[in-house]
Amino acid sequence: MTGLHHRYQSKRPVWIIILASLVCVSLLGAYIYPPRGYSACYFLSSSICSKDWLPPVPARVYTDEEIAARVVFRDIIAAPFVQSNNPKIAFMFLTPGSLPFEKLWEKFFQGHEGRFSIYVHASREKPVHVSPLFIGREIRSEKVAWGKISMVDAEKRLLANALQDTDNQHFVLLSDSCVPLHDFDYVYSYLMETNISFIDCFDDPGPHGSGRYYKHMLPEIEKKEFRKGSQWFSVKRPHALLILSDSLYYTKFKLYCKPGMEGRNCYADEHYLPTLFHMVDPGGIANWSVTHVDWSEEKWHPKAYRAQDVTFELLKNITSIDESYHKTSDESEKIHLDWMTALQCRQCAVNLDTFSVRSLDAILYWH
Ligand SMILES: *[C@@H]1O[C@H](CO)[C@@H](O)[C@H](O)[C@H]1NC(C)=O
Ligand SMILES: *[C@@H]1O[C@H](CO)[C@@H](O)[C@H](O)[C@H]1NC(C)=O
Ligand SMILES: *[C@@H]1O[C@H](CO)[C@@H](O)[C@H](O)[C@H]1NC(C)=O
Repeated sequence: MTGLHHRYQSKRPVWIIILASLVCVSLLGAYIYPPRGYSACYFLSSSICSKDWLPPVPARVYTDEEIAARVVFRDIIAAPFVQSNNPKIAFMFLTPGSLPFEKLWEKFFQGHEGRFSIYVHASREKPVHVSPLFIGREIRSEKVAWGKISMVDAEKRLLANALQDTDNQHFVLLSDSCVPLHDFDYVYSYLMETNISFIDCFDDPGPHGSGRYYKHMLPEIEKKEFRKGSQWFSVKRPHALLILSDSLYYTKFKLYCKPGMEGRNCYADEHYLPTLFHMVDPGGIANWSVTHVDWSEEKWHPKAYRAQDVTFELLKNITSIDESYHKTSDESEKIHLDWMTALQCRQCAVNLDTFSVRSLDAILYWH
């Protein structure tokens, strides 16, 4: 499959502007984020595309399960936000094993005790920690097969553990190759002050978008609702609850969105949350992720950084990115939007061995 995809960056609405960032520097991106197709976006969606001259289509009659799911979602979203006296951000690391940038994260967190909590889902081996902040932060984990529903299960496991702490108000999913691009205060105020979740979501009519849709998902999920996006999200507490409360749509993806199904590939972690939120709370998500991945080379893998690539200048460039686009896999659309990202996550196919101390120094200096 091919990849490519969407890249984004942006600058935009005046109201949100500035932001912060985590860059995921690469490392092992390919294995965390195996080559797949991703693609793009298009997101001027429905209102613009609707054809006024068509007779109105009668509304579909919902199944019992849909009615039940939708009232639960509606009330979770509408419920008054539970205010905490000590609001924290949950940083949830989804990693195969040890976190190569623990020292960097420690520096990021230092001096902000009480305003964050850390959760680590290590799917392959027990991590060796170099920072006391990460010791004892592992949750019970299971194996994760990239692209399969076990990836979504790991995300839900992290959310469930993080929701146990009622002070956690915002939940950020990060990979082991993510590094922070902005300082803690910047990230904290950006995420705490916004009322939306950062879930990447776009309509890709191409083979790596709705070409992965199966009609078995009917009647609940129609092809026109099928969406795509990077798996790295950051969600407000009500949306975290909504994700855990869903079993109807989750089950559809578990059964009918998997690699190699009927000769085609579908990756639940790229489609489940974008599609779910597009259907149940489209106005509550940014349609962009706060993490940054560079797909500008338009290859199967995101841009790879070698140790010598990671310089002060590169980091400065990434933090100044102020516009972004999603690219669809049918090559038809490339839409630029202005939007400013809060956290940026860069994943790339960099060999861990080549990611030297020198790179880490550049990043540490950046902070
Ligand atoms: C978020 O806040 C903005 C500005 O206050 C408001 O216009 C918007 O409707 C809010 N969005 C949600 C999902 O509450
Ligand atoms: C995200 O896209 C949906 C349409 O799918 C739109 O309703 C919503 O306003 C968009 N979110 C933002 C923050 O623009
Ligand atoms: C940073 O951006 C400038 C201007 O776009 C470009 O010329 C330079 O090559 C970039 N440097 C790196 C390291 O990406």
